[in-house]
Amino acid sequence: MKLNQIIKSVFATTALLSSAAAVHAAEVEVLHYWTSGGEAKSVAELKKIMEAKGVTWKDFAVAGGAGENATTALKARVIAGSPPTAAQIKGPSIQEWGQEGVLANIDAAATAGKWDSLLPKVVSNTMKYQGHYVAAPVNVHRVNWLWINPEVLKKAGAKVPTTWPEFFDAADKIQKAGFIAVAQGGQPWQDATVFETVALGVGGADFYNKALVKLDPATLTGPTMVKTFDTLGKIKGYIDKDAPGRDWNLATAMVINGKAGMQFMGDWAKGEFTAAGKQPGKDFLCAPAPGTAKSYTYNIDSIAMFKVKNPDSQKAQLTLATAIMSPEFQEVFNLNKGSIPVRPDIPRTKFDSCAIESMDDMAASSKAGTLEPSMAHGMAVSSAVQGAMFDVVSKFMHSNMTSQAAVQALAKAAKTQ
Ligand code: GAL
Repeated sequence: MKLNQIIKSVFATTALLSSAAAVHAAEVEVLHYWTSGGEAKSVAELKKIMEAKGVTWKDFAVAGGAGENATTALKARVIAGSPPTAAQIKGPSIQEWGQEGVLANIDAAATAGKWDSLLPKVVSNTMKYQGHYVAAPVNVHRVNWLWINPEVLKKAGAKVPTTWPEFFDAADKIQKAGFIAVAQGGQPWQDATVFETVALGVGGADFYNKALVKLDPATLTGPTMVKTFDTLGKIKGYIDKDAPGRDWNLATAMVINGKAGMQFMGDWAKGEFTAAGKQPGKDFLCAPAPGTAKSYTYNIDSIAMFKVKNPDSQKAQLTLATAIMSPEFQEVFNLNKGSIPVRPDIPRTKFDSCAIESMDDMAASSKAGTLEPSMAHGMAVSSAVQGAMFDVVSKFMHSNMTSQAAVQALAKAAKTQ
């Protein structure tokens, strides 16, 4: 029996009963993977808001960037017939879980909160399964950022790169000055984050869309994708030998403490700088990755609700969904997380220059048709295709696979069912 069939049959018979029994009245058990410094501070704000509303927060944190471990833990809990009340799930995965019949309808919270009129369509559609809200959106992260230590840049005599030749020039200078040029970690999702950013920078938003959203075979194997891998291959030469196994936030810490000059990472990295008391424009710089100033890869975090039988638990789910969309939460969470509110009506006053740039660039790229879902962060393709693409990129990063072989393997990965 396939995993999804197992989930279906087990859930149908036991889940409603056991999850109702496991969770007490007015309690939410929330599965998430926000465990780094900035992430933990952010999620603590949601806990505070829920507890102020009289709902007990049962933390189900599973460490591991981008949620790979959390997904495994979630599958195990659903198969065991006791899903958590809510879980951090996003993008097309919401549809995949919806198809299993395990997600709860939270239309009551959405209707009362006027979500349909508040949220951009691209967001509200993702939060719905078969026309009904099953998840609450938390934020918008921009993925195509380059994080820079300005002190390292200055010591190296380099400037903020806006093109790939400028990037390699800066990387050379940083390396010559005795620093690590590119701080990189070791998990496949981190390699995929750099890969998609390079694809966007080398080929532009149309190319990105055809290749990594529409999965067009000719684009996946064409010369621009070859050039993408060539560029990615060149970046390898600027990463230190200890990168394998390193967590993303430890790579960010290398930029924070001046060991490394630059890191390609989404703006959850800013949460780490902020948690370390650093100021944008002074202690660190955020710049769109080379060649990507006019485009924007988005990553929307959301909390999906699982079916529970106990009426108190159902009420607590609606309280959680309402809290997530509240202006109070949207502001405080995103100030800590590095992302921007998903509601466009939140005052900008408390947000820093990187967040303001993200807000402006998102609006501009949405108008220009260069706003694209992140493949590496579960926004663009099914989890099966994403996993197969991760394998290819990771193999390319950690072997001497050629760009030609990589594009062929990528096109094959795109066909994964
Ligand atoms: C992303 C997620 C972010 C952040 C990051 C590192 O996929 O959307 O919220 O947590 O992974 O774990």
